Amino acid sequence: MAPYPTILALLFTTISAASAITGYQNHTVGGTAGWFFNSTTNTSATNYSSWASTQTFNLGDYLIFNTNSNQSVILTYNKTAYLNCTVDDSDNDTSIYSGFPDGFNKPLTISAPLTIVGLNYFFSDYSEGLQCQQGLAFQIQVQRGIGLPPSLNQPPPPPYIEPPGPNSAESPLVTLPQTPNSGAFANRVDGCVAIYALGVALVLLQSQR
Ligand SMILES: *[C@@H]1O[C@H](CO)[C@@H](O)[C@H](O)[C@H]1NC(C)=O
Ligand SMILES: *[C@@H]1O[C@H](CO)[C@@H](O)[C@H](O)[C@H]1NC(C)=O
Ligand SMILES: *[C@@H]1O[C@H](CO)[C@@H](O)[C@H](O)[C@H]1NC(C)=O
Ligand SMILES: *[C@@H]1O[C@H](CO)[C@@H](O)[C@H](O)[C@H]1NC(C)=O
Ligand SMILES: *[C@@H]1O[C@H](CO)[C@@H](O)[C@H](O)[C@H]1NC(C)=O
Ligand SMILES: *[C@@H]1O[C@H](CO)[C@@H](O)[C@H](O)[C@H]1NC(C)=O
Ligand SMILES: *[C@@H]1O[C@H](CO)[C@@H](O)[C@H](O)[C@H]1NC(C)=O
Ligand SMILES: *[C@@H]1O[C@H](CO)[C@@H](O)[C@H](O)[C@H]1NC(C)=O
Repeated sequence: MAPYPTILALLFTTISAASAITGYQNHTVGGTAGWFFNSTTNTSATNYSSWASTQTFNLGDYLIFNTNSNQSVILTYNKTAYLNCTVDDSDNDTSIYSGFPDGFNKPLTISAPLTIVGLNYFFSDYSEGLQCQQGLAFQIQVQRGIGLPPSLNQPPPPPYIEPPGPNSAESPLVTLPQTPNSGAFANRVDGCVAIYALGVALVLLQSQR
């Protein structure tokens, strides 16, 4: 008789579609040129600042570096290190994606997640800074977007699992995960909970007729 389950299904479909549209992006650094330095001509494969200016970067996005073991990828939030093209191992503002397999010319794909809002700096520190000085470097402005996905966020506290009771089948809401309060992501979960509760209310209403 009642179309409530259909309405519920429609509501959930709408929410899923909305998340897909606003989801996370992977940015292939340099486009088809990749992340390369030509050591004969001392030039970078493309202008990475120009490439970056064509993109919008949000938390939870990844930068994908198609490269080989002739280049490194340094991510830093330390502008001094970026401008000087140097890495300080003890600098906790810096992630080093190197220590690659032995030898040159080994193909590599490096994925770097964007986890901090604001200026993020990338460069290669190989050839004692020459690659970086010659354009294998760029900065980006990372925006909040929909916030970090749980996979890149601080691990949440273990969920409280209610011991199974005589009426556990009637209380599915207690098993919803507790999420840390991280911006739009949390808001969307709140929306799901609200609609879920609405659906439960409708079902209860219907069963009382
Ligand atoms: C983006 O890159 C990450 C890390 O490599 C990967 O796990 C994810 O599946 C990629 N997403 C898409 C849509 O390609
Ligand atoms: C570097 O540039 C030189 C001159 O343009 C070219 O001959 C050579 O193939 C390039 N090397 C690589 C690895 O692209
Ligand atoms: C490239 O840089 C190295 C190191 O500075 C230098 O020895 C070499 O002459 C340069 N080559 C070109 C083509 O500019
Ligand atoms: C790269 O492009 C930027 C503008 O996006 C420009 O300011 C810069 O001079 C270019 N760099 C080189 C080496 O051409
Ligand atoms: C990688 O580096 C080695 C050693 O400097 C050089 O002989 C080779 O041409 C480089 N390959 C590329 C693709 O730049
Ligand atoms: C930033 O990098 C510079 C140069 O490597 C270093 O001297 C400085 O201590 C770093 N700053 C922080 C906050 O780590
Ligand atoms: C800048 O780089 C040079 C080597 O290229 C290094 O000697 C110097 O210590 C660096 N300065 C800072 C502040 O890291
Ligand atoms: C990073 O280093 C700074 C200065 O040394 C320190 O205040 C901060 O707590 C460190 N952060 C982490 C995550 O270790």
